[in-house]
Amino acid sequence: MAELIAARSTAVLEANWRTTHTVPAAGLYPHQWSWDSSFIAVGLSRISPRRAGQEMDALFAGQWDDGRLPQIIFDPHRDEDYAPGASFWQSRLIPGSPKQVETAGLVQPPNHAWAVWKIHQADPAESRRRSFLERNYSKLVRWHEYLSGRRDRGGSGLACIVHPWESGTDNSPLWDTVMKRIPADSKTELNRPDLQHADAGERPSQKEYGKYFWMAERYRDHGCDDADADYPFLMEDPLFNTLLAVSELALADIAAELGLPGEAHGDRAQQITEALEALYVPELGCYSARDVTDGTVVKKATINGLIPLLLPGQVHTDALLETLNGPRFMDGRALLVPSYDATAVDHNPALYWRGPAWFNMSWMVAEALDRLGHTDQAAFLRGNIGRLAAEHNFPEYVDPWTGAAHGTRRFSWTAALALETTYHRSTP
Ligand code: SER
Repeated sequence: MAELIAARSTAVLEANWRTTHTVPAAGLYPHQWSWDSSFIAVGLSRISPRRAGQEMDALFAGQWDDGRLPQIIFDPHRDEDYAPGASFWQSRLIPGSPKQVETAGLVQPPNHAWAVWKIHQADPAESRRRSFLERNYSKLVRWHEYLSGRRDRGGSGLACIVHPWESGTDNSPLWDTVMKRIPADSKTELNRPDLQHADAGERPSQKEYGKYFWMAERYRDHGCDDADADYPFLMEDPLFNTLLAVSELALADIAAELGLPGEAHGDRAQQITEALEALYVPELGCYSARDVTDGTVVKKATINGLIPLLLPGQVHTDALLETLNGPRFMDGRALLVPSYDATAVDHNPALYWRGPAWFNMSWMVAEALDRLGHTDQAAFLRGNIGRLAAEHNFPEYVDPWTGAAHGTRRFSWTAALALETTYHRSTP
């Protein structure tokens, strides 16, 4: 079985490779996406550390002067095939943007340093030969400085996201309340090439897209400068900030490997971990998101709120595990971790981030479970990642209860993480 999964995953990654990077999906997502590339490179590193390095290099080529790594680096030949594209952002007109490539102005969750460290560990000799850590360390430091500096809009020590796309979990119920305040009348005409590649019932609605475009326009028209005082969407997300802390810990490891002082990275990870406490909701037994514009913490249980299980200094481990295994999530019957509270009346196992299980999330939960010594449950999740991916042609997401496939197929991070599970050896 493992050989079959590895062969089929490799074929998907090969087909989605485009000279310098991997597209998340040939039709639905035809450019390079930021956090997708990190997950993809972790998988690639098992079969080709060189290609994994190229994937990250292509991403870092899009870094802005302020350190941000953009959500998307556009393929100029595919502008008609995805919206909003390069012609919407016109990034070259924005001060501080890269001049060689066109990008979005938004960002995505910072899993990059974590990925770089994993790629190094997959083949340290190859990594040293190519100075992989040397050439990426300072770029990663600048990326984190951007997030910890200009993106700390609430002054709490946590980074804010300024758009649902930045969370990676676009239509998560975490954003419902704030989204009600966002106008839906964007100046740009709504164009939905995505609906040619996935069922409308499995994608964000037209109304949500109007709001997505409105926010992207406002952020762009303010020069993407993070200084728009009345900007209405400023959210602290537990998933985004956990990945920032985990990546700070990876930077500490990278610094140690390079013989550089790394203590500040460990301190910063600790600081983020402590600041996240303000986002913990005891009655849900998980973390949630905080709206920085009015200080309220949303009361919704989503997969984003369980990802802090990855943090080594986690004080709520027992409660988080109980929530993970309780009726809101695994409930003794899920095959992979649902993205949204199964007891919620609006849980929908087929609708994007409002119920379905995503392979990257279950993979991160498996990583956390392994670190906590729950190796049997980690192996259960990894087994289902590989099996469901290969059985259903690498779906974007699945029904957590039946495993039925949804979204697009031959999705790159599904293939990459399925591939990774076939190489994984649990550490006791
Ligand atoms: N996930 C977004 C989309 O669906 C972009 O990051 O297009």
